Amino acid sequence: MPQDNRQPLAISCNCRKIEKLKSEWKYSGINVEQSKLTFSNFEEWNEAASRVKDTAAAYCTEFDEIRNKRRNSLLLCGQVGSGKSHISVAVALNFLKQKIKVVYMPYRDVITKIKQNMIDQEYYSKAISKYQLCEVLLIDDLFKGKINESDINIIFEIINYRYLNFLPVIVSSEFTIDRLLAFDEGVGSRIYEMCKDYAVEIEKDIRNNYRLK
Ligand SMILES: Nc1ncnc2c1ncn2[C@@H]1O[C@H](COP(=O)(O)OP(=O)(O)OP(=O)(O)O)[C@@H](O)[C@H]1O
Ligand SMILES: [Mg+2]
Repeated sequence: MPQDNRQPLAISCNCRKIEKLKSEWKYSGINVEQSKLTFSNFEEWNEAASRVKDTAAAYCTEFDEIRNKRRNSLLLCGQVGSGKSHISVAVALNFLKQKIKVVYMPYRDVITKIKQNMIDQEYYSKAISKYQLCEVLLIDDLFKGKINESDINIIFEIINYRYLNFLPVIVSSEFTIDRLLAFDEGVGSRIYEMCKDYAVEIEKDIRNNYRLK
């Protein structure tokens, strides 16, 4: 009897699907721990949390319609520990499920690494272009840590490229909109204009810090 060595089709397809998913996640930079940061795990425990959740949910629902427009981005800023990073990642996970390629940029780590490698022109352009070109960019904790001129220059190159090309950003930052503008008006006002329709500024009030709940 001739032996049939063919692999069952379904299994090989699933393997390929899993490999593809793994590589998509790796590219996005979102890790396994962060996969718990979903909409369903986000409690509406106070007014600020509801505002954050509703705005992020509306952004997801309307994204297809607005993605190529001037105001195609999301800004969550203000009070520390109020769930800004959590809900930003929830939006990113939602997009990844729909095959919208989001790249996660933990601001402080990425800027530090880019600055350390600044003399390597090839590394620099490659690192920057990943954040300039991706379909959606999530900048987490914008302007965290000490800021100097090179920090501003790097983030300006990224934001300005995306601004000029109508590419969406999701931004989380502990600073108010006024403080973002004060750091750098060029960067701040571009972000503000892009995020105008989906911006939440969470009032600085320790009662809005979920970590202390
Ligand atoms: N409404 C919420 N429901 C459930 N968990 C929450 C909620 N808000 C925050 N958390 C949890 O609290 C912790 C802090 O939230 P998160 O990191 O999103 O805050 P943040 O606003 O980004 O703070 P920071 O300004 O320090 O970056 C996380 O573990 C997050 O999952
Ligand atoms: Mg955060």
